[in-house]
Amino acid sequence: MTSQTRTHPALLVPSAAPDLVLATSRPVPQDFVLGVATAAYQIEGARHEGGRTDSIWDTFSHTPGAVVGGDTGDVACEHYHRYEADVELMRSLGMQSYRFSTSWDRICPDGGPVNARGLDFYERLVDSLLAAGIAPWLTLYHWDLPQALEDRGGWTSRETVDRFVDYALAVHDRLGDRVRTWTTLNEPFCSAFLGYTAGMHAPGRTSPADGLAAAHHLLLAHGRVVQQLRARDADLELGLTLNFTVADPLDPSDPRDVDAARRVDGQMNRIFLDPVFRGSYPADLLDDVRHLGFEDHVHDGDLEVIATPIDVLGVNYYNGEAIGHEPPAAALDDSVNGGRTTRSPFPAADDAHRHPRGLPLTAMDWEIQPDGLTRLLVRLQTEYAGPAGVALHVTENGAAFADVPDDRGFVDDRDRTAYVRAHLGAVLDAVDAGVPVRGYFYWSLLDNFEWAWGYAKRFGIVRVDYDTQVRTPKASALDYARIIATRRLPTPWAELTEGGPDPDPAGERRR
Ligand code: FCB
Repeated sequence: MTSQTRTHPALLVPSAAPDLVLATSRPVPQDFVLGVATAAYQIEGARHEGGRTDSIWDTFSHTPGAVVGGDTGDVACEHYHRYEADVELMRSLGMQSYRFSTSWDRICPDGGPVNARGLDFYERLVDSLLAAGIAPWLTLYHWDLPQALEDRGGWTSRETVDRFVDYALAVHDRLGDRVRTWTTLNEPFCSAFLGYTAGMHAPGRTSPADGLAAAHHLLLAHGRVVQQLRARDADLELGLTLNFTVADPLDPSDPRDVDAARRVDGQMNRIFLDPVFRGSYPADLLDDVRHLGFEDHVHDGDLEVIATPIDVLGVNYYNGEAIGHEPPAAALDDSVNGGRTTRSPFPAADDAHRHPRGLPLTAMDWEIQPDGLTRLLVRLQTEYAGPAGVALHVTENGAAFADVPDDRGFVDDRDRTAYVRAHLGAVLDAVDAGVPVRGYFYWSLLDNFEWAWGYAKRFGIVRVDYDTQVRTPKASALDYARIIATRRLPTPWAELTEGGPDPDPAGERRR
């Protein structure tokens, strides 16, 4: 297939050209890995091709009112057919690693026997990445549970754990010789609590008890797969990705705000961290959710399995929050429900409310708070990863903004460029503070299907024209490519605020 990528002159970034190094920049450690992330349902399309059957996200996105604009992942970015050009695009930008997910529904349609054609696709993708010198980072579950398994209880059923192990081993049978880093789950908080408690994500249930059951079974599935893959190959790098908040009490002197922030931290962060790193659920969390029957799902031996040692913790960070016990006068609203019934994702934190702090916002109404990432990494290292000898990687961080393309489709996204620089700087601050963070993946390579927001929110450093599928690197992609090539990180707004629009600083210098 001919590449439909528009190559911008600035993509011809030479490696470490001294004239590209800005005075207001800091070094990026040579061994720090820079890459991008995506997920299967958000980019692949090809809904029923190659033997794939429906996931809960196919069902959900085809439910009237569930997704903004009635958008679905049926076509998405057509990555299933355009993966070669997408890999070439990453190579041209200098990406060192690519974090992607495999689709359970392609590989084990309906959660059942293995479909070789599904594995063929990922084998081609991995081989292309390796040929391009890009390290594959594979995630087994980025939310696309086979609908047939949901019909039998989904993540509230222990049987789903067994099916996940079957699927994971099938992927490893095919790709175990070529992929070194394997993460089981992406953001089990979202799978469990946005999906089964808040009703905002597939499968759209609104039950606190179901969310808790799902959380435990997801963790058990993680632990079982780590055990099995470790037994097969001691050299694999194994782990999972969690999404975190940094929950600060609105008024640290008000015990009610302190308690509300504790609940949010417990039900979003520690509910996953403690069992994985310490082999137990936090006592305060168990007290908070006791009335919901959580412990009935926790069988003897489960926690030992969940605490099977891992090698890597993927950290997804978008923002922290100020938590008060009363609602704010004007709330930040990033919820989306298309008129459906939704509720808080937290099973037992009804008196916890997010308060705006006057920080700049992304198009998701998410506050931009890079220092929260530094604090998060220091905390994770001190309390969890450090004592366990587990490496930290930022596996997602990024921003949606209201991109405005010019007549060539180019987006001069200075806000996103500054966002990436500021957050990479926050990671390097953590490194300087002694936290051995090993890498950073921007979310996302491409504009894509942003779950309940459909195509309305664009996170990519590469613009996708959904009518033509043309990909056009944005200014942020060119800036990120320069950071990778030069191993120098400019300060957030360097070169972006003065003078007129200059979307192509590197290219200008070359002419
Ligand atoms: C994360 C998801 C990812 C994407 C970003 C914006 O929660 O893992 O798929 O939607 O948010």
